[in-house]
Amino acid sequence: MIGIRGPYGKGWPLRESKGKDILIVGGGCGAGALRSAILWILKHREDYGNVEILYGARTPLDVMYRTELEEIGRTGRCRVLLTVDRVPEGMAWRYEVGVVTKLFKKVKVDPKRAVAFICGPEIMMKFAVRGLTAMGFRIGNIYLSLERRMKCGLGFCGHCQIGNKYVCQDGPVFSYEEVMPLPDKIL
Ligand code: FES
Repeated sequence: MIGIRGPYGKGWPLRESKGKDILIVGGGCGAGALRSAILWILKHREDYGNVEILYGARTPLDVMYRTELEEIGRTGRCRVLLTVDRVPEGMAWRYEVGVVTKLFKKVKVDPKRAVAFICGPEIMMKFAVRGLTAMGFRIGNIYLSLERRMKCGLGFCGHCQIGNKYVCQDGPVFSYEEVMPLPDKIL
């Protein structure tokens, strides 16, 4: 038996980002948390400017939603750039090889009018934030989905607490402006 509660907390600022360019940066399983945002944007495509999706995985076999992402890229409704860390011998792969931040030099969205949504391993998010701020993104326009071991989901137990924030209630999506002052410099 599976029990489901929720949804809890705050998601991607899709309504607040209307009229802006969107840059989506995903790594590994982070694609799962970004997929609903991508589907929303596709459904309301005329509400947004340029939309680019960058996604990186370990190997071609680890690319999540590959068929779907390739199809989105083919339609031209969003630009999709894929990369993997390595390609096992004998495996076909016609996209990039290297970490996802390597794709930043190909980005066409305007950092001054763009919002970034990032989800992936924390080390990848850390480098993504550095890359985006260097490109000119404002820290208040960079959003990250954090992951913590959650129990109550209601802000009571403290399992997901980072400093004065509860990831379950205040997040899991935070702007980098909110994350920056948190203890331990998590990103
Ligand atoms: S999961 Fe209990 S406070 Fe967040």
